[in-house]
Amino acid sequence: MTMVKHGNFKTCAQSGFCARNRAYADLATSQASSWNPPYSLAPESIVFKNGQLEGTILKRVGVGGEMVRLPLVVTFLESGTARVTIDEEKRQKGDIELRHGSKARKERYNEAASWAIVGGLEVSVTAAVNKQTEKGATRVLYGPSNKFEAVIRHHPFSMEFNRDGQTQVMFGDRGLLNMEHWRPKIEKKEVEGEEKADDTKATEDEGTWWEESFGGNTDSKPRGPESVALDISFPGYEHVFGIPEHATSLSLKETRGGSGNYEEPYRLYNADVFEYEVNSPMTLYGSIPFMQAHRKDSTVGVFWLNGAETWIDVVKSRSSPNPLALGVEAAVTTQTHWISESGQLDVFVFLGPSPMDVSKAYGELTGYTQLPQHFAIAYHQCRWNYVSVEDVKDVDRKFDKHKIPYDIIWLDIEYTDGKKYFTWDPLTFGDPLSMQKQLTKNERKLVAIIDPHIKNEGGYRVVDELKSKDLAVKNKEGNIFEGWCWPGSSYWVDCFNPAAREWWKSLFRYDNWKGATSNMFIWNDMNEPSVFNGPETTMPKDNLHHGNWEHRDVHNIYGLTYHNATHHALIERKKGEVQRPFVLTRAFFAGSQRVGAMWTGDNEAKWEHLAQAFPMILANGIAGYPFAGADVGGFFGNPEKDLLTRWYQAGAFYPFFRGHAHIDTRRREPYLMGEPYTSIVTQALRLRYQLLPAWYTAFHEASVMGAPILRPHYYEFPGDERGFALDDQFFVGSTGLLAKPVVTEGADKVDIYIPDEENYYDYFDYTKYSGAGTKSIRAPLEKIPLLMRGGHIIPRRDRPRRSSGLMKWDPFTLVIVLNKAGNAEGTLYLDDGESFDYQAGAFIHRRFVFSQTSSSLVSENLAEAAGAKTAAYLKKMKKVRVEKIIIIGVGGEWVGRRVASIDEEGKQRKAKVAYHRSAGGKTAWAVIRDPGVAIGNSWKIELA
Ligand code: NOJ
Repeated sequence: MTMVKHGNFKTCAQSGFCARNRAYADLATSQASSWNPPYSLAPESIVFKNGQLEGTILKRVGVGGEMVRLPLVVTFLESGTARVTIDEEKRQKGDIELRHGSKARKERYNEAASWAIVGGLEVSVTAAVNKQTEKGATRVLYGPSNKFEAVIRHHPFSMEFNRDGQTQVMFGDRGLLNMEHWRPKIEKKEVEGEEKADDTKATEDEGTWWEESFGGNTDSKPRGPESVALDISFPGYEHVFGIPEHATSLSLKETRGGSGNYEEPYRLYNADVFEYEVNSPMTLYGSIPFMQAHRKDSTVGVFWLNGAETWIDVVKSRSSPNPLALGVEAAVTTQTHWISESGQLDVFVFLGPSPMDVSKAYGELTGYTQLPQHFAIAYHQCRWNYVSVEDVKDVDRKFDKHKIPYDIIWLDIEYTDGKKYFTWDPLTFGDPLSMQKQLTKNERKLVAIIDPHIKNEGGYRVVDELKSKDLAVKNKEGNIFEGWCWPGSSYWVDCFNPAAREWWKSLFRYDNWKGATSNMFIWNDMNEPSVFNGPETTMPKDNLHHGNWEHRDVHNIYGLTYHNATHHALIERKKGEVQRPFVLTRAFFAGSQRVGAMWTGDNEAKWEHLAQAFPMILANGIAGYPFAGADVGGFFGNPEKDLLTRWYQAGAFYPFFRGHAHIDTRRREPYLMGEPYTSIVTQALRLRYQLLPAWYTAFHEASVMGAPILRPHYYEFPGDERGFALDDQFFVGSTGLLAKPVVTEGADKVDIYIPDEENYYDYFDYTKYSGAGTKSIRAPLEKIPLLMRGGHIIPRRDRPRRSSGLMKWDPFTLVIVLNKAGNAEGTLYLDDGESFDYQAGAFIHRRFVFSQTSSSLVSENLAEAAGAKTAAYLKKMKKVRVEKIIIIGVGGEWVGRRVASIDEEGKQRKAKVAYHRSAGGKTAWAVIRDPGVAIGNSWKIELA
């Protein structure tokens, strides 16, 4: 039986700073109203100027009145987001001593923003101090029309963020702010019988201040204790979401015990967690410290910008609201407690009010999803490993023989010469070009894996350069850090170093990596980083990175720096070649969405892992990183055929859709499954290919406004409380497609929740479902429960092809799903799917509107202005037409409709209309055949 080795990973109690902060919270809670937090904002220090409030927080330490100075900056951004940073003056000035002769930096880490943030930092020019003053507090009006208000309380220091006269977010209302200030280590003389001289620290447990050991590794902690923690409460909010990556429910459970709750906080410490378990707050491969809170018709969010190990406790209080909260009636309040090992305190607050507003504002800061290539959102075929050029060619041929579509075949680590990246195994992959040539015939691509550990072997060019150019991560002594990974003894490239990033680029150049072509893309794995013999399978925290930052400070960012370097390397493989990069990553941080896709790592071929994937993908989407998927089939183990079939049906709804398997598993390519499985899986794959135009449109929305691709119910129906915790059904972009793939063994029906009074139709047979509530849908093995909500128009391409590249010039089908009033609307975004020409206007962006009153379908241009490449692109697309329009849910007036009149850019034409009456619960529908209109043109189709 497989099982995660709990003992390899710390619990909060085994992680000094987490335990200390939890103990602090317990102490505060036990003292209740007599708790006197030691942090005060000195009123005379407060200055408000140009959208920014500055001041000094004083932390009272000991009994002698000693104060630690903590500079505070609250910035009100133009976007309506507020940012709060707290630093520590002594460390800022470098006025501290490091222990053990360490070469580490003295400041609290202050460069996380340079990795996570790419925009949205314009400071508000309208934010102003509220004239209605209140004793002991400073109030600032900000946000759209200055409707938001931040209340900064001086003693004890705390903050509230208000919207609409109501408190939405509170900082420090439980008094858990904690910045462990620098102090010298006082070596205690152990004199027997003598009383301790200073008893003021009697309550503090120094046991983990100066050194910590775990799993045979001792962390030297040259700066002593330096954690940063804050309680953040959401008064009136029962649900919180986000903070991936955890194998847990979408609506986050409580973490301080109690029935059905966790005992441990959610941990964010990127790690290679072997055989991870479902339903757990344990850390996984990536971390995005961004959380949304949602209540009826209101969403808010916080982004805790910190790259160090972080733990988050979540509790829900059902008592009466905090006395400081404005306008909040007695309801559930979610209280969270954020605890990081080091770094500045740096938090962003988003006041919504809709989930899309929060996504957009978060994306303005951290960037939006990279617009992927067409092939990247099609189906990927992977396993560890396709063993030779011949094997790859054979798999490729077999997909064709069985008429199963796929776009990309993947090479895992065995393609290399002895796990030396940028080489090919001479015996098995001696002729990589012939393999890529065969793939290219059907517009297919290759992806090869490149990991950040570089084999320590004499004569290997890459390691020789890494060493001679001094570009690797260092150990605490400042020498090159050596550890173990797939190749055995290895070094790790340090992509915090700009010179390392430049060098990394050079390795991907075609003249350097012989055998790579422009049809080959990259998979970055093990970038947590995974170090087999390191503490918790990663690097020691006292390792040093570029600029002498300790690994402790940047651990969760390392994976992003590496992924980012590969992304940029692919853009510059050859002078003059311009194509979008594709890089998959396992480790991630806030901002990773800008540079490629992620997947959820080593899951298992078990039903519970199939079920776990959707909540994880949804959580990622909420946290701004929607290009996500899970290994279809499950990585470890051999899935039963039913499980594999259901997994393909689910995978057809993963934004990143890839089959993958461990080296010890049996082959499981869809054509090996036998009937009826092979056919059913082929149908699922074809469904994905048919809907690629809708998926691509959803990706485009993600790339310009941060919209999740799989949308949880609360995004689409923020007022419907019954949908808030749903995480096994979801909408696909704005298409109105509502899916609930089967994820349980032996199910032949599913209960799907319909949130509103609109009509919904079965995607495949047009069975009608109406009225809000739970509907039972038949779901035998061959069926994917998928509904279309009335009111939407879904773009499709219906011709089955071998790859998405071969669909480039295929005609479109528009599916018009009428709402109760007989209207529908939808959008389509389309471009060449591979270059950056869309940035010069080479794209088609249409809105289709069907109106009952005018009995017409209109295609309108949504592109704001033409760019340099618009005309040429539209000319190329002139021949790409709409071949079929299906109208679902039509009324009696359609019975006699035989002809549609078409007006396309001044030219008139007629097309035939066919009517299909309703029968056996299935709605009536009509088809306009071959209207012949170009997909990129403006046109109108009228029905007499
Ligand atoms: C770990 C990855 O999670 C897995 O997908 C991959 O197959 C192995 N590393 C080997 O590279």
